[in-house]
Amino acid sequence: MRMFQNLCGADKTYCNLYDGGWVKPSSGAYIEILSPVDGSLVGRVPAMSREDVDRAVANSKETLQSWAEAPIYERAQVFYRAADLLEEHAEEIGHVLTMEIAKDKKSAVYEVQRTADFLRYTADAGKGIAGEAISGDNFPGGSKNKISYVSRVPLGTVLAISPFNYPINLSVSKIAPALIGGNTVLLKPATQGSISALYLARVMQEAGLPRGVLNTITGRGSEIGDYIVTHPGVNFINFTGSTEVGRHISKLSAMVPLMLELGGKDAAIVLPDADMDFTADNIISGAYAYSGQRCTAVKRILAQDDVADQLVPRLLSRIVKLQVGDPRDNAVIVPLINTKAADFVMSLIDDAVAKGATVLTGGTRNGDLIQPTLIDHVTTDMRLAWEEPFGPVLPILRVKDMQDAIDIANHSEYGLQSSVFTNNIHDAFFVAGQLEVGTVQINSKTERGPDHFPFLGVKASGMGTQGVKYAIEAMTRPKAVVFNLDMKSH
Ligand code: NAP
Ligand code: G3P
Repeated sequence: MRMFQNLCGADKTYCNLYDGGWVKPSSGAYIEILSPVDGSLVGRVPAMSREDVDRAVANSKETLQSWAEAPIYERAQVFYRAADLLEEHAEEIGHVLTMEIAKDKKSAVYEVQRTADFLRYTADAGKGIAGEAISGDNFPGGSKNKISYVSRVPLGTVLAISPFNYPINLSVSKIAPALIGGNTVLLKPATQGSISALYLARVMQEAGLPRGVLNTITGRGSEIGDYIVTHPGVNFINFTGSTEVGRHISKLSAMVPLMLELGGKDAAIVLPDADMDFTADNIISGAYAYSGQRCTAVKRILAQDDVADQLVPRLLSRIVKLQVGDPRDNAVIVPLINTKAADFVMSLIDDAVAKGATVLTGGTRNGDLIQPTLIDHVTTDMRLAWEEPFGPVLPILRVKDMQDAIDIANHSEYGLQSSVFTNNIHDAFFVAGQLEVGTVQINSKTERGPDHFPFLGVKASGMGTQGVKYAIEAMTRPKAVVFNLDMKSH
């Protein structure tokens, strides 16, 4: 709270970044953010109105040209300062994260550090935004007197919409590439995560970001989301969240370019020659970190019977050691983000059990905290085989052979990532080549980082590619100026 001391009025009351200052909601309406950890009040954020949105968009247009014309090294300097500030305030901001989204303290502080690293890397990458000069004579009939100078220019105002589970890192993964590319940004964070996102905005302002280059809009997506998404002043939409909302936005976005990072059902395919202890370590970490609330969480194991029989005892011996409880004590199995999420996870477990699956451990809840759950003999008629729990539940689907595993993996509507565990490089590349996903991890859990790698989903997992240089390219465009030097005809 120190970073917002006396900025927004009453204690635990936050406000939005607008025109370089901090503003209250025009309607006076606020949303109380209660902690999933203990139900305490984390703070109250403005419920911004359509008029507030209009003002934020208009303000972002006022500084578009000056920011687009600012030398990239000047933009980069802001990022370096912001990274230093994030590191300086990592503990304070990490604590806000922990209380607001129940992320374990270690992962929360790491999210802040990862964001600082992202800013520095993006600042460096921005300096590499290069154009090119193309001589006309490369093409038949062309002439050396016709030269095209191609540079990359910003798209305008980028709308960044971020999810609850990485409210700082997945806000900056949009904001930073957009800003270094010369765009201005409107940030609409997840409501449960918006206080954390406002701390990021505060850091960017403190680091010297010019007024209006970044404005924040807090408020429920269900109330102002459609209005912002369809606002005529928005030139690009960069969304991370559920497939349901992503599809909804893509229907509304009529000709506005989009980047969508959506849901996943990442499979861990375990082949018979895999190192089972190494594989079990990776699957446990990939499936249960932050109670499975990661888009890239391992969300199903595909293995033949003899392999599954070797994995089960190894998984159970590791699950029993997972710390369960309070994220302030670094528990990794923590209360889910809300009761609706916990109810949904339990509905998938109940459906699987009703259809004959075997709960090997877990399957129970205490409030919104669900015990780490491993379910065996999950079959393709069960919802858990296909739906994304976003909770600490891992199904084992027993397959006939490698091809069966590939076919079931590809039958998913999702296509974010998959893992293949094997010591046979030929099998690894064969399976990787067959999988319809954005990324295949060979002998590792599924995960987004490092953040300069391309990160993308196909099918219901998204469109477009995140990852520093890819996001910069997505949020800039070529502009060609052709020099015609043949003056004879004049
Ligand atoms: P969500 O419910 O889809 O919300 C995501 C964001 O969209 C939030 O800021 C939300 O605001 C906003 N929103 C909701 N309705 C909107 C509308 N009509 N117009 C504009 N914005 C709207 O997702 P979540 O619960 O935050 O995150 C969990 C989901 O996101 C999971 O499916 C997970 O797989 C996915 N995810 C994917 C990735 C990835 O990189 N692929 C990363 C993280 C999460 P409110 O909070 O105010 O509703
Ligand atoms: O769900 C957030 C997604 O971006 C996963 O990130 O680094 O936990 O794999 P990570």
